[in-house]
Amino acid sequence: MQINVDGTLMNVGVLFSEIDIRDRTKILAHQINHDYGTKETLVVLIVLHGALIFGADLVRNLEMPTEIETIRIKSYEGTTNTGKIKLVTPIPTSLKGKHILIVEDIVDTGRSIDFLLKELQKVEAASIKVCALLDKPEAHEFPVKADYIGFNILKNFVIGYGLDLNGKFRNLPYIANLTKA
Ligand code: IMP
Ligand code: MG
Repeated sequence: MQINVDGTLMNVGVLFSEIDIRDRTKILAHQINHDYGTKETLVVLIVLHGALIFGADLVRNLEMPTEIETIRIKSYEGTTNTGKIKLVTPIPTSLKGKHILIVEDIVDTGRSIDFLLKELQKVEAASIKVCALLDKPEAHEFPVKADYIGFNILKNFVIGYGLDLNGKFRNLPYIANLTKA
């Protein structure tokens, strides 16, 4: 498939299919179930909008009691990171003493996760871990490491399964590389 992005023709190439994502999500959930056990409540903090679809699929494979919370941050314009980042919604209240799993779509520079982890220090959680569907290790500029990672990918821009380009393409059921045609 090819799409027109601001006058430039781009190739959309499937990187991870629906089945790849489903299988990997099950394995990640299995690890999380194993690590946390089934006794204590886990607050799954989904970072909107990118992790909306991944988070929804992940939680349905978790076995402990869960609470779902969301947070919205903004850090991107187009395919380049602007370096600006802000909380669009406040940190959810009543996280004190809870086990929190931040669910992100992708760790790129690591700025978002670094920012969120610092913000969440204030809530005095019992524990905070990060689960990211995708990680771009070569792009890291901040010393962050997700505890659970779906797939490591190269520095290329990807769309689909929640990941967007200027708000579009989140609905693709697969993850695709976007390259110049
Ligand atoms: P970071 O703060 O640089 O780690 O970037 C993280 C955020 O940037 C992610 O949560 C995404 O919203 C966005 N992002 C980074 N890389 C991509 C990409 O390849 N496609 C779509 N969004 C991306
Ligand atoms: Mg995001």
